[in-house]
Amino acid sequence: MTRVLLNGVRPYGEGEPVDVLIEGETIVEIGASPQADADEIVDGGGKVLLPGFVDLHTHLREPGREDAETVETGSMAAALGGYTAVFAMANTDPVADNAVITEHVWRRGREVGLVDVHPVGAVTVGLGGEKLAELGTMRHSAAEVRVFSDDGKCVHDPLIMRRALEYTRSFGGLVAQHAEEPRLTAGAQAHEGDNAARLGLAGWPAPAEESIVARDCLLAGHTGGSLHVCHVSTEGTAEILRWWKSREAAGQVSAEVTPHHLLLTDERLSTYDPVNKVNPPLRTDADAEALRRALADGTVDCVATDHAPHAAQDKDCEWSTAKPGMLGLQTALAIVTRTMVRSGLLDWRGVARVMSERPAEIAGLTGQGRPIAEGEPANLALVDPEAEWTVRAAELASLGQNSPFEGMRLPGRVVATLLRGQVTAHEGKVRR
Ligand code: DOR
Ligand code: ZN
Repeated sequence: MTRVLLNGVRPYGEGEPVDVLIEGETIVEIGASPQADADEIVDGGGKVLLPGFVDLHTHLREPGREDAETVETGSMAAALGGYTAVFAMANTDPVADNAVITEHVWRRGREVGLVDVHPVGAVTVGLGGEKLAELGTMRHSAAEVRVFSDDGKCVHDPLIMRRALEYTRSFGGLVAQHAEEPRLTAGAQAHEGDNAARLGLAGWPAPAEESIVARDCLLAGHTGGSLHVCHVSTEGTAEILRWWKSREAAGQVSAEVTPHHLLLTDERLSTYDPVNKVNPPLRTDADAEALRRALADGTVDCVATDHAPHAAQDKDCEWSTAKPGMLGLQTALAIVTRTMVRSGLLDWRGVARVMSERPAEIAGLTGQGRPIAEGEPANLALVDPEAEWTVRAAELASLGQNSPFEGMRLPGRVVATLLRGQVTAHEGKVRR
């Protein structure tokens, strides 16, 4: 069995550095210098050891847009970003609304072997919003799909949403909703507010998100189904979630926020650079501030990247025809470090909670988001909290280069990632 020794690391950034010995897939010893003839020694240098990150919201673009990303390149980006599990959204071409496509994505993830790739199944056939997809068949396929989402589109018909919550409940599934009332966002290009008005961009009003979130909380409560709210972007949504979760019968409602919504605002629109175009759109300072607070107090459960690579021709064009979406996997930890850790809103235990433990719990993953302890699976991310680095999209592993953080100097860097004891990334390089 392969033995890996992490030398002088600080689990959760707490206490004196310890040595962590991994044998095969498992952490076998944590303490001062376990005397081991390890096959590999990773020098920890007192850095922060966290459970490997789990991303509930990744777009891998395979099948259909392999010029923007593939399971392989997305897995590389994930490993380099500290992730040990990602959920691949269903808005591929063809749509992942059946067991053949979801099994293909799952199998490709296993072949690449850098991160656990869990395909998300579409809620409705072809993301059409009209007819439920064969959720049970996907659940019982080799990919064991548990999370269902029409992300990119909203399941806007309340009856379809109700049925999806009821049906997924029967097998312990989860509906992840992209909350956007389409009648309120037809033609929308940017957050409806002063900036969009001044620039002449059609507005995407906050209530288009909030009305769906409120409705779906009520439907989840009524059906007993599990709802996960994707990419919460407004203060109002955070308030609705806070109210709903304070109720005794709140049931299974969870929510995620993206790194970009924690940091960026619609101030950025003025350049008309489509790298800033994303759905839901960048909001106001007050929204971003409310989202940071909601993440810190648990109202929003976790961080999810909404990693959305696009080919150059889909981004290097005029604003209105550009596709919405931003890279996220390799910058998430740094943005969370900057917005949540440096600001004092979260400590590293908190980061472990929002980037690993809660997303794993929400998705029902048993081997991820586990405590760093003897006998536990060695899914780990080693983080240098002091390192500062400059984002260069051309140097990221993704095929698309649409990072809104291009040129930014950010704190917090992933030094190494381990998937079940295998080093998948180290010092910025993928290990195969
Ligand atoms: O900005 C976005 N991009 N939002 C979505 O909901 C979909 C995603 C994509 O697929 O590019
Ligand atoms: Zn979405």
